Amino acid sequence: MSDALTPASKIVILDFGSQYTQVIARRVRECRVYSEILPHTIAAADLRKLGAKGIILSGGPASVYAKGAPKVDKKIFDLGLPVLGICYGMQLIAQNLGGKVERSTHREYGAGTLKAGRLCPLFHKLPAKLEVWNSHGDRITALPGGFTPMGTTENSPHAVIGDPVRHIYGMQFHPEVVHTPRGKEIVANFVHRICGCGSDWTMGSFIQRACADIRAQVREDRVILGLSGGVDSSVAAALLHKAIGDQLTCIFVDNGLIRNGEREAVEKLFAGHFHIKLRVVNASKRFLSKLKGVTDPERKRKIIGNEFIKVFEQAARELKSSVKGAHGYKFLAQGTLYPDVIESVAIGGNPAALIKSHHNVGGLPERMKFQLVEPLRQLFKDEVREVGAELGLPRELVGRQPFPGPGLAVRVLGELTPEKLRIVRDADTIVIEEMKAADWYYKVWQSFAVLLPVRSVGVMGDERTYDFTIALRIVESQDGMTANWVRVPYDLLARISSRIINEVKGVNRIVYDVSSKPPATIEWE
Ligand code: XMP
Repeated sequence: MSDALTPASKIVILDFGSQYTQVIARRVRECRVYSEILPHTIAAADLRKLGAKGIILSGGPASVYAKGAPKVDKKIFDLGLPVLGICYGMQLIAQNLGGKVERSTHREYGAGTLKAGRLCPLFHKLPAKLEVWNSHGDRITALPGGFTPMGTTENSPHAVIGDPVRHIYGMQFHPEVVHTPRGKEIVANFVHRICGCGSDWTMGSFIQRACADIRAQVREDRVILGLSGGVDSSVAAALLHKAIGDQLTCIFVDNGLIRNGEREAVEKLFAGHFHIKLRVVNASKRFLSKLKGVTDPERKRKIIGNEFIKVFEQAARELKSSVKGAHGYKFLAQGTLYPDVIESVAIGGNPAALIKSHHNVGGLPERMKFQLVEPLRQLFKDEVREVGAELGLPRELVGRQPFPGPGLAVRVLGELTPEKLRIVRDADTIVIEEMKAADWYYKVWQSFAVLLPVRSVGVMGDERTYDFTIALRIVESQDGMTANWVRVPYDLLARISSRIINEVKGVNRIVYDVSSKPPATIEWE
């Protein structure tokens, strides 16, 4: 990362494999302080060079005394930087600085009440009793020199410990999770009051720095971007256009598997409103003929992925050869986000990285000798939405629900036909319209229609029908890795159901999917 993109205040989070490490990073950023996640193996000398104003040690599933438990370079405690250890991070502090950690007779898990120390700067302006969320097995039985207890729970006299001289603090509960309702204020006290960070991580300032950085990287050359109509590539397009104007060309591939009006909306917004150079490739016939007769979900996905790369590559090649001499298309831009670039540790993993956009066109940059521009690689998804809004993208776009790369192909179970695509597309339009009208669309993670490959008997007027079933899927989720079906009002279900049956020819039955993930997945294929 270049210096131009680095704001003045930065907090480094060392990852010990907690499922909440990314949440800590997001909480810090919500305090308008830039944060970066690094592997716990980083050497203190390297950490010093990063110019951070404070360090947070994450939680983790291990016990500090277990064989192979992740360690920290002890010298980080001598850097003179404030340190906050959370759960496992706190036990590491105690272990490394001369305290004693022992296995608890019982695991403390779930909600608890913390009696917060009055003088502890972490609890500045917070009440004396706080609801907190615990999840730990070990406990501290002897404090390191210089440390005093700064908070207690029913089960633990050392729920919070601190050395106010060296500015090193530890807490065994998780301030980052929503079950610790005032946790964000604890994080804010750490980064602002203890580390002295300002509030300079704003999306306005990010846009300025990112534009400067893009211009420095691209100079007079040109950039190609695969625009999908989704949030990430759209925000990347708007940002690049602000930075380099006409040096950017977007390619939109219509694979025939997109929603009603999607292509027109992209053309209207990007070409019409933003005056961004846009090439639309109509490849729907090509995709549909390749998918003819294919019923296996994995094969469908593979065919779509491969075909996309071929079509995109061809369009990119044409663009490349359209400019002769200097200042050609040297760069390929991608909407890569921060969760995709965090170096995850083996004990934890990085769930968000598992959901990859199909527009991260594998292999293409090397094959076509493109250099990559990834202007969003520092951002979390909610920050991308904020940047999009600042750049003037409409709410329908920045608040859009995720849409899978293979599009409606995974929402028509079994073989795809133009007729089935028409049915799922029209049903999808009604679901979106009704969800928005009832003010539910932006509250849920996803809401969509799936066309099942079965027909059932119905009756319409005096006539017997033998038509398809639409399954309605509405889920809430934080990151797509787990999900719950949403208890939307019956009236809303009723409206969606009667509109689809009345307006979409070929459907006579609607069912509501009441399964959660796991064990079900969100999409049906
Ligand atoms: P599942 O069905 O695995 O979906 O529970 C989890 C989330 O990922 C989305 N999804 C995809 N996104 N390309 C994408 O960009 C894909 O191939 C893809 N498949 C699933 C899905 O919509 C849900 O939000």
